[in-house]
Amino acid sequence: MTIAYLAPEDRLNDLLFELEQKGVTEPKIIERLVICESGPETSVWAQNIWYDVETHHFESIKQASTLLRERGRNWALYPTANVRRARLIEDQLPHFRPKLLTFPTSLPSAPVGAWTLLDDKTLLCAAKTDSPMALGEYKFVEDKISPPSRAYLKLWEALTRLQKYPNEKSRSMDLGACPGGWSWVLLNLGSQLQSIDKAPLDPKIMKHPNLIYRQESAFGIEPKNEEKVDWLFSDIICYPPRLLNLVQRWIEAEKNTNFVFTIKFQGETDTKTLNDFLSIEGSYARHLYNNKHEVTWFLIRD
Ligand SMILES: C[S@@+](CC[C@H](N)C(=O)[O-])C[C@H]1O[C@@H](n2cnc3c(N)ncnc32)[C@H](O)[C@@H]1O
Repeated sequence: MTIAYLAPEDRLNDLLFELEQKGVTEPKIIERLVICESGPETSVWAQNIWYDVETHHFESIKQASTLLRERGRNWALYPTANVRRARLIEDQLPHFRPKLLTFPTSLPSAPVGAWTLLDDKTLLCAAKTDSPMALGEYKFVEDKISPPSRAYLKLWEALTRLQKYPNEKSRSMDLGACPGGWSWVLLNLGSQLQSIDKAPLDPKIMKHPNLIYRQESAFGIEPKNEEKVDWLFSDIICYPPRLLNLVQRWIEAEKNTNFVFTIKFQGETDTKTLNDFLSIEGSYARHLYNNKHEVTWFLIRD
């Protein structure tokens, strides 16, 4: 069964390495799209996975659009070859413009297929993909005024994908919180929050009554001595092995916490440590649409 993986911008090599590790051989690569005869159902690095990919020969624009219409209503084009012809086909499809998400929100329930042209007479399409968002693009109506950094978009995406949110009853801790984008998200959700950073947060955030700011190193905290937190977040800039050690200490403290951690890479991707993170039972990682050279690691207990 043919399966295709769309790599994030600039992250094709990470995706190819992951697929090779998982036994994929000789994929066909078209720009950011990696087409395989078989492969894993999930991936850390793929932005969008196209299942049961079909290849069809067509003669006319009408024939191509009919092929797509017969297989689904909503289609997202990944434009590669023959872009003008692809746009003509797209014009013949039911109107579909993905809405920007407003946080917090439920995910769209209508399936979105994905397609591209291999040449002017060959269509590649998949009615089923791994994402409710067109091509896996989590785009939000941004708040360009209130949050003190753009990092809030990563947390919006992580929580939207989870469809689980800290709330008034939750106690959360935000490690590496400065200037406060993630803390801003968590406080807006109503969570009781402790934010940890050596540098102070933006003054607007600091004043919030539900916030306790602790000016210290996240690595100096002894998890066993901390009261239980329901959610532990980290966006700390540090080497992945150091972050892994921190996670292991929190897990050993048996607080039954949910973890949402950014693993940041500098230069080469540290795949060895990423695999060590992934070997933690029940956890997984995804390169979010709003991630840069980093992935988000999740361990969700409830
Ligand atoms: C990418 S920024 C975090 C951005 C933040 N999530 C936001 O939404 O605004 C990374 C932060 O990690 C912090 N950091 C680095 N080492 C740290 C440590 N040992 N303990 C706590 N914070 C640390 C830095 O001070 C920096 O503010």
